[in-house]
Amino acid sequence: MDKFNDELHEIVLSEDGSFTAYSKEYDEHYHSTKDGAMKESLFKHVFPAFKIKENQDDINILDICYGLGFNTLATLHHHKKNSLNSKLNIYSPELDATLISSLKDFSYPPEFDEFKHIVLELCEHGVYKDKDFYIEIFIGDARDYVREFKNKFDIVYQDAFSPSSNPTLWTLEYFTDIKNAMKKDGVLTTYSISLATRLALFKNGFNLYVNSAEGIRTATVASEALLQDFTLVDMEHKISCNPDAEPLRD
Ligand SMILES: C[S@@+](CC[C@H](N)C(=O)[O-])C[C@H]1O[C@@H](n2cnc3c(N)ncnc32)[C@H](O)[C@@H]1O
Repeated sequence: MDKFNDELHEIVLSEDGSFTAYSKEYDEHYHSTKDGAMKESLFKHVFPAFKIKENQDDINILDICYGLGFNTLATLHHHKKNSLNSKLNIYSPELDATLISSLKDFSYPPEFDEFKHIVLELCEHGVYKDKDFYIEIFIGDARDYVREFKNKFDIVYQDAFSPSSNPTLWTLEYFTDIKNAMKKDGVLTTYSISLATRLALFKNGFNLYVNSAEGIRTATVASEALLQDFTLVDMEHKISCNPDAEPLRD
Protein backbone atom coordinates (compact mmCIF):
# COMPACT_ATOMS: atom_id res chain seq x y z
CA MET A 1 0.00 0.00 0.00
CA ASP A 2 1.21 3.50 -0.84
CA LYS A 3 2.74 5.21 2.18
CA PHE A 4 0.61 8.30 1.49
CA ASN A 5 -2.67 6.42 2.06
CA ASP A 6 -3.91 6.74 5.65
CA GLU A 7 -7.25 6.64 7.43
CA LEU A 8 -8.16 10.14 6.11
CA HIS A 9 -6.71 10.10 2.57
CA GLU A 10 -6.59 7.84 -0.44
CA ILE A 11 -4.35 8.40 -3.44
CA VAL A 12 -6.29 8.60 -6.74
CA LEU A 13 -5.12 8.68 -10.37
CA SER A 14 -6.62 11.67 -12.23
CA GLU A 15 -7.34 11.81 -15.96
CA ASP A 16 -4.19 13.73 -16.98
CA GLY A 17 -2.05 10.95 -15.47
CA SER A 18 -1.15 12.85 -12.28
CA PHE A 19 -2.14 11.57 -8.84
CA THR A 20 -4.43 13.50 -6.53
CA ALA A 21 -6.04 12.42 -3.25
CA TYR A 22 -9.53 11.82 -1.91
CA SER A 23 -10.33 13.24 1.53
CA LYS A 24 -12.56 10.98 3.60
CA GLU A 25 -13.05 13.85 6.05
CA TYR A 26 -14.48 16.26 3.40
CA ASP A 27 -15.76 13.49 1.10
CA GLU A 28 -14.08 15.28 -1.79
CA HIS A 29 -11.08 14.99 -4.09
CA TYR A 30 -8.24 17.51 -3.80
CA HIS A 31 -8.54 18.21 -7.53
CA SER A 32 -10.99 17.59 -10.32
CA THR A 33 -10.25 13.98 -11.30
CA LYS A 34 -11.67 14.75 -14.76
CA ASP A 35 -9.52 17.82 -15.51
CA GLY A 36 -6.51 16.26 -13.74
CA ALA A 37 -4.50 17.57 -10.80
CA MET A 38 -1.59 18.98 -12.81
CA LYS A 39 -3.75 20.46 -15.55
CA GLU A 40 -6.11 22.02 -13.01
CA SER A 41 -3.24 23.75 -11.20
CA LEU A 42 -1.71 25.05 -14.40
CA PHE A 43 -4.82 26.07 -16.34
CA LYS A 44 -7.10 27.26 -13.54
CA HIS A 45 -4.46 29.02 -11.43
CA VAL A 46 -0.87 29.40 -12.64
CA PHE A 47 -1.35 30.28 -16.34
CA PRO A 48 -4.08 32.92 -15.90
CA ALA A 49 -2.32 34.51 -12.89
CA PHE A 50 1.08 34.67 -14.61
CA LYS A 51 -0.44 35.89 -17.86
CA ILE A 52 -1.17 39.05 -15.84
CA LYS A 53 1.76 39.15 -13.40
CA GLU A 54 4.73 37.55 -15.16
CA ASN A 55 6.73 40.77 -15.69
CA GLN A 56 6.93 41.85 -12.07
CA ASP A 57 10.22 41.65 -10.11
CA ASP A 58 8.72 40.42 -6.84
CA ILE A 59 5.49 38.43 -6.80
CA ASN A 60 3.66 37.68 -3.55
CA ILE A 61 1.29 34.72 -3.76
CA LEU A 62 -1.32 33.50 -1.29
CA ASP A 63 -2.03 29.81 -1.91
CA ILE A 64 -5.37 28.90 -0.25
CA CYS A 65 -4.86 26.14 0.91
CA TYR A 66 -1.61 24.13 0.59
CA GLY A 67 -3.26 20.65 0.44
CA LEU A 68 -0.96 18.48 -1.67
CA GLY A 69 0.99 21.57 -2.75
CA PHE A 70 0.21 21.33 -6.48
CA ASN A 71 -0.44 25.05 -6.93
CA THR A 72 2.80 26.03 -5.21
CA LEU A 73 4.86 23.40 -7.06
CA ALA A 74 3.21 24.13 -10.44
CA THR A 75 4.12 27.80 -9.87
CA LEU A 76 7.78 26.88 -9.33
CA HIS A 77 7.66 24.65 -12.42
CA HIS A 78 6.22 27.51 -14.52
CA HIS A 79 8.87 29.91 -13.20
CA LYS A 80 11.76 27.53 -14.04
CA LYS A 81 10.37 26.39 -17.39
CA ASN A 82 9.97 29.97 -18.61
CA SER A 83 13.22 31.20 -16.99
CA LEU A 84 11.36 34.00 -15.21
CA ASN A 85 13.47 36.52 -13.30
CA SER A 86 10.86 37.36 -10.68
CA LYS A 87 11.42 36.52 -7.02
CA LEU A 88 8.45 34.49 -5.78
CA ASN A 89 7.16 34.68 -2.21
CA ILE A 90 4.49 32.06 -1.56
CA TYR A 91 2.42 32.01 1.63
CA SER A 92 0.12 29.06 2.21
CA PRO A 93 -2.13 28.16 5.15
CA GLU A 94 -3.13 24.54 5.82
CA LEU A 95 -5.08 23.09 8.76
CA ASP A 96 -3.82 19.54 8.36
CA ALA A 97 -0.31 19.19 9.81
CA THR A 98 -0.33 15.39 9.35
CA LEU A 99 -1.01 15.80 5.63
CA ILE A 100 1.93 18.19 5.22
CA SER A 101 4.39 15.84 6.90
CA SER A 102 3.17 12.89 4.79
CA LEU A 103 3.79 14.67 1.46
CA LYS A 104 7.37 13.42 1.26
CA ASP A 105 5.79 10.08 0.26
CA PHE A 106 3.38 11.55 -2.31
CA SER A 107 3.69 10.43 -5.96
CA TYR A 108 4.06 13.78 -7.70
CA PRO A 109 4.23 14.17 -11.50
CA PRO A 110 7.74 14.11 -13.06
CA GLU A 111 7.59 17.90 -13.62
CA PHE A 112 8.07 18.26 -9.85
CA ASP A 113 11.11 15.95 -9.58
CA GLU A 114 13.50 18.88 -9.46
CA PHE A 115 11.67 20.25 -6.40
CA LYS A 116 12.04 17.12 -4.21
CA HIS A 117 14.40 18.98 -1.86
CA ILE A 118 11.81 21.77 -1.51
CA VAL A 119 8.99 19.30 -0.75
CA LEU A 120 11.18 17.68 1.90
CA GLU A 121 12.12 21.00 3.49
CA LEU A 122 8.47 22.09 3.59
CA CYS A 123 7.38 18.73 5.08
CA GLU A 124 9.97 18.95 7.82
CA HIS A 125 10.21 22.68 8.60
CA GLY A 126 7.29 24.40 6.85
CA VAL A 127 9.64 26.96 5.25
CA TYR A 128 11.93 26.97 2.22
CA LYS A 129 14.09 29.74 0.82
CA ASP A 130 16.70 30.22 -1.88
CA LYS A 131 17.57 33.15 -4.16
CA ASP A 132 14.40 32.78 -6.28
CA PHE A 133 11.81 31.42 -3.87
CA TYR A 134 10.52 32.01 -0.37
CA ILE A 135 7.77 29.56 0.65
CA GLU A 136 6.05 29.25 4.01
CA ILE A 137 3.29 26.93 5.13
CA PHE A 138 1.23 28.18 8.06
CA ILE A 139 -0.32 25.33 10.03
CA GLY A 140 -3.66 26.70 11.18
CA ASP A 141 -6.85 28.36 10.03
CA ALA A 142 -6.66 30.31 6.77
CA ARG A 143 -9.24 32.77 8.15
CA ASP A 144 -6.83 33.87 10.91
CA TYR A 145 -3.77 33.83 8.64
CA VAL A 146 -5.28 36.03 5.92
CA ARG A 147 -6.02 38.82 8.42
CA GLU A 148 -2.29 39.17 9.14
CA PHE A 149 -1.68 40.74 5.71
CA LYS A 150 -2.59 44.14 4.23
CA ASN A 151 -2.13 45.11 0.55
CA LYS A 152 0.43 42.36 0.08
CA PHE A 153 -0.64 39.82 -2.50
CA ASP A 154 -0.32 40.06 -6.26
CA ILE A 155 -1.87 36.62 -6.74
CA VAL A 156 -4.36 34.57 -4.70
CA TYR A 157 -5.05 30.95 -5.61
CA GLN A 158 -8.51 30.36 -4.11
CA ASP A 159 -8.48 26.53 -4.07
CA ALA A 160 -10.33 25.46 -0.92
CA PHE A 161 -12.64 22.44 -0.92
CA SER A 162 -16.01 23.27 -2.45
CA PRO A 163 -18.36 25.87 -0.94
CA SER A 164 -20.76 23.09 0.11
CA SER A 165 -18.14 21.12 2.07
CA ASN A 166 -15.95 24.01 3.32
CA PRO A 167 -18.26 27.08 3.37
CA THR A 168 -16.17 29.26 5.73
CA LEU A 169 -13.59 29.79 2.97
CA TRP A 170 -16.18 31.15 0.49
CA THR A 171 -18.23 33.75 2.39
CA LEU A 172 -18.71 37.46 1.75
CA GLU A 173 -16.78 38.22 4.96
CA TYR A 174 -13.93 35.86 4.03
CA PHE A 175 -13.53 37.60 0.66
CA THR A 176 -13.48 40.99 2.43
CA ASP A 177 -10.41 39.76 4.34
CA ILE A 178 -8.90 38.40 1.12
CA LYS A 179 -9.47 41.72 -0.66
CA ASN A 180 -7.77 43.61 2.19
CA ALA A 181 -4.78 41.26 1.95
CA MET A 182 -4.44 41.86 -1.82
CA LYS A 183 -2.95 44.75 -3.75
CA LYS A 184 -5.47 46.83 -5.74
CA ASP A 185 -4.19 45.30 -8.98
CA GLY A 186 -3.94 41.79 -7.52
CA VAL A 187 -5.57 38.83 -9.24
CA LEU A 188 -7.50 35.92 -7.73
CA THR A 189 -8.01 32.60 -9.51
CA THR A 190 -10.55 29.94 -8.60
CA TYR A 191 -12.16 26.87 -10.09
CA SER A 192 -15.55 27.99 -8.73
CA ILE A 193 -17.99 29.45 -11.24
CA SER A 194 -20.98 29.42 -8.88
CA LEU A 195 -23.07 32.57 -8.74
CA ALA A 196 -22.82 32.60 -4.93
CA THR A 197 -19.01 32.70 -5.11
CA ARG A 198 -19.00 35.32 -7.85
CA LEU A 199 -21.51 37.41 -5.85
CA ALA A 200 -19.33 37.25 -2.72
CA LEU A 201 -16.44 38.60 -4.82
CA PHE A 202 -18.54 41.14 -6.76
CA LYS A 203 -20.05 42.61 -3.58
CA ASN A 204 -16.47 43.17 -2.37
CA GLY A 205 -15.67 45.24 -5.47
CA PHE A 206 -14.01 42.58 -7.64
CA ASN A 207 -14.60 42.40 -11.38
CA LEU A 208 -15.26 38.82 -12.51
CA TYR A 209 -13.75 37.25 -15.62
CA VAL A 210 -14.16 33.95 -17.42
CA ASN A 211 -11.08 31.71 -17.48
CA SER A 212 -11.48 29.17 -20.26
CA ALA A 213 -9.02 26.81 -21.91
CA GLU A 214 -9.59 23.92 -24.28
CA GLY A 215 -10.27 20.60 -22.57
CA ILE A 216 -10.67 22.17 -19.11
CA ARG A 217 -13.85 23.17 -17.37
CA THR A 218 -14.41 26.94 -17.23
CA ALA A 219 -13.11 28.75 -14.15
CA THR A 220 -13.04 32.29 -12.72
CA VAL A 221 -10.49 35.10 -12.50
CA ALA A 222 -11.25 38.11 -10.27
CA SER A 223 -9.55 41.46 -9.83
CA GLU A 224 -10.42 44.96 -8.65
CA ALA A 225 -8.49 46.11 -11.72
CA LEU A 226 -9.78 45.99 -15.29
CA LEU A 227 -8.06 43.11 -17.07
CA GLN A 228 -7.25 42.83 -20.75
CA ASP A 229 -7.44 39.42 -22.42
CA PHE A 230 -10.25 38.02 -20.25
CA THR A 231 -13.99 38.21 -20.89
CA LEU A 232 -15.84 40.16 -18.21
CA VAL A 233 -18.79 38.38 -16.56
CA ASP A 234 -21.84 40.66 -16.75
CA MET A 235 -22.76 40.43 -13.07
CA GLU A 236 -25.57 43.04 -13.25
CA HIS A 237 -27.27 40.86 -15.87
CA LYS A 238 -26.72 37.65 -13.84
CA ILE A 239 -28.18 39.34 -10.73
CA SER A 240 -31.21 40.59 -12.67
CA CYS A 241 -31.82 37.01 -13.92
CA ASN A 242 -31.35 35.55 -10.41
CA PRO A 243 -32.71 38.21 -8.03
CA ASP A 244 -32.85 35.80 -5.07
CA ALA A 245 -29.21 34.69 -5.35
CA GLU A 246 -27.10 35.49 -2.27
CA PRO A 247 -23.46 34.99 -1.35
CA LEU A 248 -22.60 32.67 1.53
CA ARG A 249 -22.29 34.53 4.86
CA ASP A 250 -20.30 33.82 8.05
C1 LIG B 1 -8.85 21.34 -2.15
S1 LIG B 1 -7.60 21.15 -0.95
C2 LIG B 1 -6.34 22.21 -1.58
C3 LIG B 1 -5.63 21.66 -2.79
C4 LIG B 1 -4.31 22.32 -3.02
N1 LIG B 1 -4.45 23.67 -3.49
C5 LIG B 1 -3.43 21.51 -3.96
O1 LIG B 1 -3.02 22.03 -5.00
O2 LIG B 1 -3.15 20.36 -3.64
C6 LIG B 1 -8.20 22.06 0.42
C7 LIG B 1 -7.29 22.05 1.64
O3 LIG B 1 -7.80 23.02 2.56
C8 LIG B 1 -7.50 22.59 3.88
N2 LIG B 1 -8.37 23.38 4.78
C9 LIG B 1 -9.70 23.24 5.00
N3 LIG B 1 -10.15 24.22 5.80
C10 LIG B 1 -9.08 25.01 6.09
C11 LIG B 1 -8.91 26.18 6.86
N4 LIG B 1 -9.95 26.77 7.50
N5 LIG B 1 -7.67 26.72 6.96
C12 LIG B 1 -6.60 26.12 6.34
N6 LIG B 1 -6.72 25.02 5.58
C13 LIG B 1 -7.93 24.47 5.45
C14 LIG B 1 -7.77 21.10 3.83
O4 LIG B 1 -7.10 20.43 4.88
C15 LIG B 1 -7.23 20.75 2.42
O5 LIG B 1 -5.91 20.31 2.52
